[in-house]
Amino acid sequence: MAMLELVKATEEQWEEAYDLFYRALRKLMSEGKGDHFGGMTPEGTKRSTKDGNYLLLAYRKGDQIPVAAISVLRDDNYQQYDWLLLDTPREGVATLNAMVVRPELWGQGYARQALRLCVEALKAEGITTLVGTFHPDNSMCHKTLNYANGGAEVETSERYIWKTPKGRILERKRFMLCI
Ligand SMILES: CC(C)(COP(=O)(O)OP(=O)(O)OC[C@H]1O[C@@H](n2cnc3c(N)ncnc32)[C@H](O)[C@@H]1OP(=O)(O)O)[C@@H](O)C(=O)NCCC(=O)NCCS
Repeated sequence: MAMLELVKATEEQWEEAYDLFYRALRKLMSEGKGDHFGGMTPEGTKRSTKDGNYLLLAYRKGDQIPVAAISVLRDDNYQQYDWLLLDTPREGVATLNAMVVRPELWGQGYARQALRLCVEALKAEGITTLVGTFHPDNSMCHKTLNYANGGAEVETSERYIWKTPKGRILERKRFMLCI
């Protein structure tokens, strides 16, 4: 596995990130697992470069291929995570909105490396807790989160059903990761 370099994407780089989200969704759909990752719309991807949100892009050092994209939102409200967050001060909380790796490079440790770099960058900005959701059967995502949790099982909610604004029914679990 090559080393990655993580940058905060500018508006000019959102298309590179969107390309990674799209490739990952296509791969999951070809495996009949499209609901494991709801996907990111072009608008959603662009929004995550703005307003204090972070769109992180990891390039492979050397050939500079974009390998991973991670969207972190600061503009969420965290009521739905209340019981997970308990006494956590909300100003240190951010949402891990999406995380993808270029499909032909899955299984080589890039998600773990990218998430480690992401966690370092977020900690430097005062973030102490990440929340988000994942499909209960998405073992790759679950294992990556456990890795970022120092190898311990990340704290999660029960399964629940989420109806998207477009009416798709997706099964999810919420998680909380102290970083
Ligand atoms: C989830 C995702 C980011 C993981 O990326 P990756 O670079 O393949 O992950 P890594 O190689 O760092 O491996 C992370 C864990 O997943 C496991 N894994 C990787 N590929 C796997 C596969 N095909 N089947 C089962 N487990 C797999 C690894 O073994 C590792 O677990 P370990 O710590 O027990 O060894 C990537 O699969 C992806 O982009 N998926 C589509 C989008 C998605 O589902 N995102 C998560 C929702 S937020």
